[in-house]
Amino acid sequence: MSGALKFPDRFLWGTATSPTQVEGHVANEWTDYVAADGGHCRVACNHYHRYAEDVEWMAQLGVNAYRMGIEWSRLQAAPFAPLNGQELERYVDLLDRLKAAGITPMVVLHHFSNPPWITAAGGWLNPATVPAFVDYVAKLVSALKERVYLWNTFNEPDTYASLTYLLGGFPPFHKWRLWSYRKIIKHMAAAHIRASEVIRQAGNGGRAPEIGIAKNWTFFDSFQKHALWDHLLAGISHHTFNRFVLNEFLGGPRRAASTFLGVNYYGLTRFNNFEPMVPAGGACPKQLARLGVVCDDMFERHPGGLGTILRNLHRQYGLPLYITEHGSASADEDFRILDLTEHLRELHGAVKVGVDVRGFFYWSLLDNFEWQFGYSKRFGLLAVDFNDENLPRTMTRVGEFYRGICRARAAALAPPDSSVPIRRICIP
Ligand code: BGC
Repeated sequence: MSGALKFPDRFLWGTATSPTQVEGHVANEWTDYVAADGGHCRVACNHYHRYAEDVEWMAQLGVNAYRMGIEWSRLQAAPFAPLNGQELERYVDLLDRLKAAGITPMVVLHHFSNPPWITAAGGWLNPATVPAFVDYVAKLVSALKERVYLWNTFNEPDTYASLTYLLGGFPPFHKWRLWSYRKIIKHMAAAHIRASEVIRQAGNGGRAPEIGIAKNWTFFDSFQKHALWDHLLAGISHHTFNRFVLNEFLGGPRRAASTFLGVNYYGLTRFNNFEPMVPAGGACPKQLARLGVVCDDMFERHPGGLGTILRNLHRQYGLPLYITEHGSASADEDFRILDLTEHLRELHGAVKVGVDVRGFFYWSLLDNFEWQFGYSKRFGLLAVDFNDENLPRTMTRVGEFYRGICRARAAALAPPDSSVPIRRICIP
C-alpha cells in the first residue's frame, strides 16, 4: 500500500461480534423477542455451530484479533453454580482455533444479555447480581486464563442501561426510569471493579491481563444553532450517557481497576425539536439526506469526532485505548469504504500525536441480529444471506478493502474511487 498511513507494529487489526447477535441457540431475555422486521435471534448466524468456518473467514480477512463475547447463560445454570463443561469446551475450541490462526482474542463478559435466573431476580437492578457476576467471572477466568489476556468486562453499560430502563428498546422495555438507569450503571461499575481484582489475581500464563470496559461514545448537539431547548437536551444527554458513566467506572481511585478503555464509536446525535436526527431514532433517511445530515442506516457520521474523543480520553484518563467497535450499516459499499477510510485517518492522526491506541475492531465480522432492528441493518465484513437456511457467508467489498489494510498493517489514505468525503462537523 504505497503512501499509506502506518500504524504501530503491534497494533491489533480486528473484528467483533457478540453472542446473542451471531451464535443462535441462546436462552436469555432475547430468545423470545421478535424484532421490528419480524426477525429473532434463535438461529442468528448460527455461529454456535459454524464458528470453525468463521475463524477460517477471519484468517482470510487477515485480522490478527477478534473481540468475541462469551454467553453467561450457557455457562451457569444457577447463581454460583459450576460452569457447564461442554459449553466451556466449545469456547476453548474456538479460542484454540483462533490461536492456531494467529488471532488474539479479546473476550467480552457482558454484552446486553443475562442468564434467565438473573433476569428473574431483577437483573442489574438487584445488588445480588454483582457477586453472582463476579463469581461467574472468577470461574471463567480461571478456566481460560492461559488462552486469554484481553478482558472486556462490560460492553456499553450506558447503551444497556438506557435501552432497558430509559428508552424502552431492550427487554424489559421500561421508559424514563432515570433512577433505575443510574442504579444499573452503579452496579455494573461495582461489578467491573470487583471482576478486575479477580482477573488480576488469576493472572495469565505469560503476561499481565488487560482489563477494561467498552464505552459507547456518542457526541450530542442541537441541529439548529439557536434552539436552546435542543442544546439543553444535548447537554443533559452528554452528562447522562457520557460523563456520569465514565465517572462511575473511571472516576478517582476507580480508574485503577482498568488497564485500558475501549471506545465504541459510531458518531453523532443531533436533536431537532427534541427529536434525535438519526435513523436508529426513527428519523426518515430521505429527510435527513435533504437536510444534509450524513448517516449510515443507523447513526450520523462524524469521523472528525473520533480523533477528538481519542485525544480527550487520553488526556483525561491516560489509559491505553482500543477502538472496540466502529463500522457502518449500508447497502452502499462505497459509502462504507469511505466511512472506514475517514475514521482510520482520524485514528492515525491521534496515534501520531502520541495517543496510545492499541487496536481497532471492525463492527462486525458478519451481518447479524441487530437487536430491536432484527436483520435489516447490514454491518458485516461478510454478508450473510438470511433467506437461505444454510446462511451462506460471502466476502463484501468492505471486507476486501479491510483485508488490504489488515495485511499491510496500514490504512489506505483514500478509498479506491473516492467520491464525496464524509462531512466533518466541529463539536469540541
Ligand atoms: C453494540 C452492538 C451493535 C452496534 C451497532 C453497539 O452499540 O455494541 O451490539 O450491534 O453498536 O448498532
